[in-house]
Amino acid sequence: MKESISQAPMHIVHVPATSANLGAGFDTAGLALDIYNSIAFCEADTLTIELAEPNPSIPLDERNLIYIAAKQTADFAGRILPPFYMKQYNNIPMASGMGSSAACIVAGIYIADTLLNLWLSKKQILDIANQIEGHPDNVAPAIYGGLCINQNNGGNVLTLQIPVKGDIACCIAYPDFALSTHEARKALPQQVPMADAVHNLSCMALLTAAFYTQDYSLLSSALTDRLHQPYRKHLLTGYDQVIKEANKLGAYGTCISGAGPSMLSFIKESELSSFTESFSIALREIPGNWIAIPSRINANGAIVEEA
Ligand code: HSE
Repeated sequence: MKESISQAPMHIVHVPATSANLGAGFDTAGLALDIYNSIAFCEADTLTIELAEPNPSIPLDERNLIYIAAKQTADFAGRILPPFYMKQYNNIPMASGMGSSAACIVAGIYIADTLLNLWLSKKQILDIANQIEGHPDNVAPAIYGGLCINQNNGGNVLTLQIPVKGDIACCIAYPDFALSTHEARKALPQQVPMADAVHNLSCMALLTAAFYTQDYSLLSSALTDRLHQPYRKHLLTGYDQVIKEANKLGAYGTCISGAGPSMLSFIKESELSSFTESFSIALREIPGNWIAIPSRINANGAIVEEA
């Protein structure tokens, strides 16, 4: 007979929010934030899903994204996923551009890995997550932490984790309107001018150099993307004003977080509280009911621990 919920060992997986693209790194660069979805789980007699906060848009059955990712992981490993109990503590807002789907996918893979004792490496977890998500820029930092530069070469993902050091943190401007990644991707052109592609190459080199040299003054130029932001900004009420106010307060630079609608400002970690306080006040004047969410940078990615 199987153990009841209270007897089976309970684990908890914490997966960080992520900000993808980082300006010019469309589908390529991503950063792990200090905001987490946490899921407590253990083997049980039946699949039981609870939410710490009620949310009618999260399915409590086999349609749940965490369950789907866990099931696919078991399938990839040629194993049967046992029924399990889980309780979701979701702190990453959904459809916000902060990697909530990627966090669910990564959580599901870690749940299957733990319940089935698969001992998957981070690279194996990344390959599974990339297959489910379709691009690596959110899932890689959710797994590895820090700033990840990714190359998706026909499904084989190469990830370089750049150590993030020095006086740097983030402040997210988060509006009250949602924007689906599907809608934001539909706004993109099929082709771009060669000059714009070349511009983005230089931005990516600058972004990488900024983090390796800790010369974060380079970020204002590095974030001047021409491949996706010009085509998406009309979907973000207040886009130009958010950038203007962040600049006035001394941000290194501001870009759309993932596919939006949130926007990410790089700021000095030593000014995290004062910047957030002033930015919150400035955002009140901008249509869209934006709020400021401060975040340090997560260095280690997802972790599983005994609850
Ligand atoms: N790179 C993706 C995009 C991130 O911008 O569409 C959102 O999943």
